[in-house]
Amino acid sequence: MAVGFCETSMMLQLIEQPSPEQMFHEQYAFYSSTSQHMQRHFSEFARQVLEMGVLSKENPFVVELGCNDGIMLRNFANVGIRHLGIEPSRNVAEVANSYGVRTISEFFCHQLAIDIVSKEGKADAFLAANVMCHIPSIVDVASGISKLLKPTGVAIFEDPYLGDVVEKTSYDQIYDEHVFLFSAHSIQHLFRQQGMELVDVQAQKTHGGSMRYVIAHAGAYPVKDSVNRLLEKEKSIGLNRVATFRKFSQQVEQSRTELIQLLTGIKAEGKRIAGYGATSKSTTILNYCGIGTDLIDYISDTTPIKQGKFSPGMHIPIKPYDFFMASPPDYAILFAWNHAEEIMAKERAFIEKGGRWIVHVPEVRVLE
Ligand code: TYD
Repeated sequence: MAVGFCETSMMLQLIEQPSPEQMFHEQYAFYSSTSQHMQRHFSEFARQVLEMGVLSKENPFVVELGCNDGIMLRNFANVGIRHLGIEPSRNVAEVANSYGVRTISEFFCHQLAIDIVSKEGKADAFLAANVMCHIPSIVDVASGISKLLKPTGVAIFEDPYLGDVVEKTSYDQIYDEHVFLFSAHSIQHLFRQQGMELVDVQAQKTHGGSMRYVIAHAGAYPVKDSVNRLLEKEKSIGLNRVATFRKFSQQVEQSRTELIQLLTGIKAEGKRIAGYGATSKSTTILNYCGIGTDLIDYISDTTPIKQGKFSPGMHIPIKPYDFFMASPPDYAILFAWNHAEEIMAKERAFIEKGGRWIVHVPEVRVLE
């Protein structure tokens, strides 16, 4: 897996990626609603959209790309707003439909946007969360969004933010599904090509630091100060320059050295280490650092479809959460660090019994 940066589009992206069909299919292992924190996040997201004043009074229409199990759209369905979810992974799309969220199992593209407009009319809002950065054909998607939206329509989407990745050395955000790590610079460039503009940005805590982007047809809405402030900040960090990413790669190597040293030292004391959360992110850490069952006994995960399987590449067994409770390790490495708040709140007993947390973001250390 290799990463490239383009100083014209200002996009940080994977050089190669598996085909979307290999990643988003009827066995897609991620159900958004397993996290209560995310449920609250998406009902808040939906509430903000409802209060923005962008939905038409008459028969508004909201489209969500990658609606997963309907975690966000059910907030619109529940108040009777016309909506359409687009979710390529059939298994999760079926769950969304069972919750009363009208969902089709397709990949979004320019042509699908045209088909939707011809059948259902243009949309007031296009939403996506942790989806846009997964799509290699991003220019085609941006073009589809411009076709789908009414003249007053807005696209609102959020993804892990490149600025956080660089600041926290959270290189585990780089994995197969994340073909891009966006910044305000790259998003502005992408949508300008479609006659659209970035009108607002809002930083989010989710996924270890995300950015919500609001895009509209050029001239439809005033551009908020937040956009210029973020663009200036990005220039000062250097998110528009390749030199920044050369330095970043050195920080990543340093982080790997420190993590291997820490885990090896703990293991040499005869202690047991388990992973907490069989995240996609951990796949990058484990394979890049070469960490296998010599250092980590097992990874605990609450998602049934992951249990009984093995981590990709390093083949660490994935065990249900009950196993973690019954057989707690001396140290747990927090692979699901993006859910730290929620996890720390529910794992007091682990600490009380003498367990300790290892984190690798923003720096490698054992939590006191
Ligand atoms: P996720 O946040 O999707 O990270 P990534 O995008 O890197 O895969 O995954 C979180 C994983 O952690 C998911 O498989 C569920 C698991 N998990 C637990 O096992 N226990 C928990 O308390 C939480 C919050 C998550």
